[in-house]
Amino acid sequence: MMHTLEASAPPVAAVPPVAGELKQRILIVDDDPNIVQVIEQALTFKGYSTCSTTDGEEAFRIFREEGEFDVVLTDLVLPGISGIELLEKFKELDPTCEVLVLTGFGSNEKAVEALKKGAYDYLKKPTNIDELFIAVSKAIEKKKLSLENIAYQMDLERVIEERSSELLRTQKFLHSVLESSTEYFIIASDAEGLITLFNSGAERLFGYKRTEVQGHRAILFLAQSEAGNAAGMQDFLKSGVIDQAHTVVTRDGREITISLTVTPIQDESARSVGYIWIGKDITEQLALQAQLKEYAQNLEKLVAERTREIQERNRRLEDTLTQLNDTQMQLLQSEKMASIGQLAAGVAHEINNPIGFINSNLSTLKKYIINLKDYCRAVDRVVQSDDADSIEELIRLKKIKKVDFILDDVTSVIEESIEGTDRVKTIVQDLKDFSHQDRGTLNEYDLNKGIRSTLNIVWNELKYKAEVIQDLGDLPLVRCYPQQLNQVLMNLLVNASHAIADKGKIYVRSRARDDEVVIEIEDTGCGIPAENLAKIFEPFFTTKEVGKGTGLGLSLSYRIVERHGGRIEVDSRVDVGTTFRVILPADGPPAAAAEWVPALAEEA
Ligand SMILES: Nc1ncnc2c1ncn2[C@@H]1O[C@H](COP(=O)(O)OP(=O)(O)OP(=O)(O)O)[C@@H](O)[C@H]1O
Ligand SMILES: [Mg+2]
Repeated sequence: MMHTLEASAPPVAAVPPVAGELKQRILIVDDDPNIVQVIEQALTFKGYSTCSTTDGEEAFRIFREEGEFDVVLTDLVLPGISGIELLEKFKELDPTCEVLVLTGFGSNEKAVEALKKGAYDYLKKPTNIDELFIAVSKAIEKKKLSLENIAYQMDLERVIEERSSELLRTQKFLHSVLESSTEYFIIASDAEGLITLFNSGAERLFGYKRTEVQGHRAILFLAQSEAGNAAGMQDFLKSGVIDQAHTVVTRDGREITISLTVTPIQDESARSVGYIWIGKDITEQLALQAQLKEYAQNLEKLVAERTREIQERNRRLEDTLTQLNDTQMQLLQSEKMASIGQLAAGVAHEINNPIGFINSNLSTLKKYIINLKDYCRAVDRVVQSDDADSIEELIRLKKIKKVDFILDDVTSVIEESIEGTDRVKTIVQDLKDFSHQDRGTLNEYDLNKGIRSTLNIVWNELKYKAEVIQDLGDLPLVRCYPQQLNQVLMNLLVNASHAIADKGKIYVRSRARDDEVVIEIEDTGCGIPAENLAKIFEPFFTTKEVGKGTGLGLSLSYRIVERHGGRIEVDSRVDVGTTFRVILPADGPPAAAAEWVPALAEEA
């Protein structure tokens, strides 16, 4: 149902009041107090907060001083001030305030003008109450939207301001990055290669001011300026310029070499919209590199020369070492020969004995043969004469010539001689073995056999000085260089004999113990004083008179045993005697020591 507000009509309570909302303020201006009253009543009833006046000037004052009216309802015809004028003033004071104008009959033009000046709507008098409510609530809605819009706009402005200052900061930062790069030049160009940015590094390097190059082709600075024109530039950019060295000419005509990386700048659709040209002057760097290369080449040459020199020296050193080894080998050999020399007399005596009786046996045999020959001739004669006297003569002759004895003895004389020659053979063999240069290899050797044959060699040296008591246990075969160990045994046996002044005893023992073989040579000689014990293994240490000892025996023995992976122990008491103990691993020298042994074998 539609209600019409007449100046005299009572307020209508048909439309329910606005409840629960914050009261909107409405200013009502009309020169007719009845209309003001009716509208005010209706709107108050509807829940709005109202304020009213019949005077235009007063209305403006209220609006200005009390302010914050959501809607103003104003008549267009007022005394003193026109409604349009008032509308303008309201709008000026508060552009968000919505103004509804009340127009009388025939004032359409004014209503249109009011709308142009910013009025929200107009209501014709007499005003329909429902239309009034609708217009007011719409105006309020509009005001709300305006306020929201303003808030949104303000928000937007704030965001824009924030973004702008952020952008400004980024820009400043980028600028400072661009400008702080003193070593690198940074140039930006558009897709055509026309310069849009030219940092101070570029200014410094190329000698151009940014204002001079702005809009020119970046490529202009490259000496290879076949790309100086637009087409050339496209080709250049298409080639994907990355990390290349270019020769460029600076403004003052200097040729420099730069490194250059050109990176395309792409928009969202991956279209190249420009390029960033970054690089630096590498002229010095290249010169340094070239210098360095030259140095390196020189160094290589120098190293090669030095290496050759060192190799030559090494070769000479090796030669010297070989010579030294030879000399040492000769020394050792001569030392050994010297020991042999000392023993030669004794050996000669040993040989002399069997040779003596072989010689006498041969004389005996010669006589035997003469007798046998005489007897055989007599037998021939008797056989031919067939004479009885002759037979008797034969029997007598057989007696005289001791034919029976000769026939009896001849076998044993020959056997004895054979034994004699055998002994000579053994001695000569032992001697030969002993003096033989040992370039041998590792052998499985029965050390008891070594002890026996060494005793044979030195026998003449020992037999007048000492009773030799052998106590040889069961030994496993030992991997060793037999000749070298025999030499050790000979040294120890001769030392033992030398230590005995008159007559004494030498015990020679051999035992197998765990994985080792132990050979002990004990004498009842003079013993070694404590102060000498530490020195006896030193080369050339001897207490013997000149010509009798070289002082090499024990040092050589020590080295030989050490390189067999074994050791020599010595217990000694002055005036009581000395025991030397040679302890050898039954398995032979360990790998590391074995490596040395052939060298030693060469020396020995
Ligand atoms: N069994 C021993 N009893 C006492 N002293 C010894 C014995 N063995 C060695 N010595 C002492 O050790 C010294 C060194 O012995 P080594 O065998 O090295 O040399 P050398 O016998 O003097 O001379 P050579 O070179 O002829 O062997 C001897 O001179 C001696 O004083
Ligand atoms: Mg000696």
